[in-house]
Amino acid sequence: MKVRFVTSNEHKFQEVKRMLSRVAEVIWVNIEYPEVQAASLEEVATFSARWLEDKVERPFFLEDSGLFIEALNGFPGPFSSYVFRTIGNEGILKLMQGVSHRRATFKSVIALMDRELHLFVGSSPGEIAEEIRGGGWGFDPIFIPDGSNGLTFGELGERKDEFSHRGRSVRELLNYLVRRNS
Ligand code: IMP
Repeated sequence: MKVRFVTSNEHKFQEVKRMLSRVAEVIWVNIEYPEVQAASLEEVATFSARWLEDKVERPFFLEDSGLFIEALNGFPGPFSSYVFRTIGNEGILKLMQGVSHRRATFKSVIALMDRELHLFVGSSPGEIAEEIRGGGWGFDPIFIPDGSNGLTFGELGERKDEFSHRGRSVRELLNYLVRRNS
């Protein structure tokens, strides 16, 4: 089956494509769409999917993600993309300087527009690193998921999928697609 993934982020596209390749051909729709400033990723993803519903052939999906840092009361959360563009990893590490409670959660919400709208959610609990480590993209070099023996997403390479928020939301989507087509 074919399913369209609407994103302007090639890193996200590559991650999702490799995880879904067993069950679906993922077609990249590289267009921008408006993201409302809302309190939850679910609201942001739902608004975007509704906005795209008469512009993109179904089934299609999009994904919205964010990093929620406990010591910063969940900041940057739904504002992660803006915060990454403005203060970046260095800025986050500065905000966390001298803070010993470094727990954080990466969250991913996939909104799939099939006949109806479906949401698939994945979370990855972990910690903010003390320094930038490894490659990857976005916040990858400063996020250490639980269970990775202290390695950041950036140091895990493709093993990131086992631990990541997106790995978990995509596995939910994959289960749905398998059931749908059986
Ligand atoms: P978006 O709004 O879903 O595009 O993502 C919000 C921001 O979170 C992005 O700009 C990235 O900087 C960051 N982000 C989301 N997912 C990841 C990830 O898997 N690794 C690193 N950064 C991520």
